Amino acid sequence: MNHDELKKAVGWKALHYIKPSTIIGIGTGSTVSHFIDALYTIKDKIEGTVSSSLCSTQKLKSLGIPVFNLNQVDEVAVYVDGADEINPQMQMIKGGGAALTREKIVAAVAKKFICIVDSSKEVGVLGSSVPLPVEVIPMARVYVARRLIQLGGLPEYRLNVITDNGNIILDVYNLCIVDPIFLEKTINEIPGVVTVGLFASRSADVVLIGTKNGVKTIVKNN
Ligand code: 5RP
Repeated sequence: MNHDELKKAVGWKALHYIKPSTIIGIGTGSTVSHFIDALYTIKDKIEGTVSSSLCSTQKLKSLGIPVFNLNQVDEVAVYVDGADEINPQMQMIKGGGAALTREKIVAAVAKKFICIVDSSKEVGVLGSSVPLPVEVIPMARVYVARRLIQLGGLPEYRLNVITDNGNIILDVYNLCIVDPIFLEKTINEIPGVVTVGLFASRSADVVLIGTKNGVKTIVKNN
């Protein structure tokens, strides 16, 4: 099975976590795109969705799946999203699709976070295979970059990308993230940072991992 087939398998498996008449939080990316295809098959059974990006909103609407403004809903039952990396503590690096801030907001509201990934996303230590994205207010780009260098990172300006919120992305290389909760807090405190793509203090509750032997399910111990 190739990566896309593994992504499709977890996207469809996530349907098992959807209860009738609830509002579903929708992430962003190619794995989530498969989940949206699956959700389409039960669209008349759910109340609707809230979306983390214009891209996902466009796909949901094109399939006739209702999309609500987050400020108009009382509760988001589950949030389904992919990740760029996930560690054994179910903490993630996200933001490859530049949607990290809205993803973090919807994840914070949701009662349960279901992370759907193919096995290539599993790492022992975050930062091993991908840079860490940081969404930044444009006027603070150079200042934030300097502060990230002081933290040991090598920030790179993601060219030709403006987020749905009108901001820019710095991709930070060279970080060995041994204390994700501390680094998340530290970077979020830099003036000009909108949010960092470390999902550590709000980690996933369930992880569905697409492997060549089938979908592996990991549930957080509370
Ligand atoms: C977007 C994200 C995505 O979840 C992440 O990039 C994974 O994407 P894909 O499912 O295409 O591999 O964080 O901002």
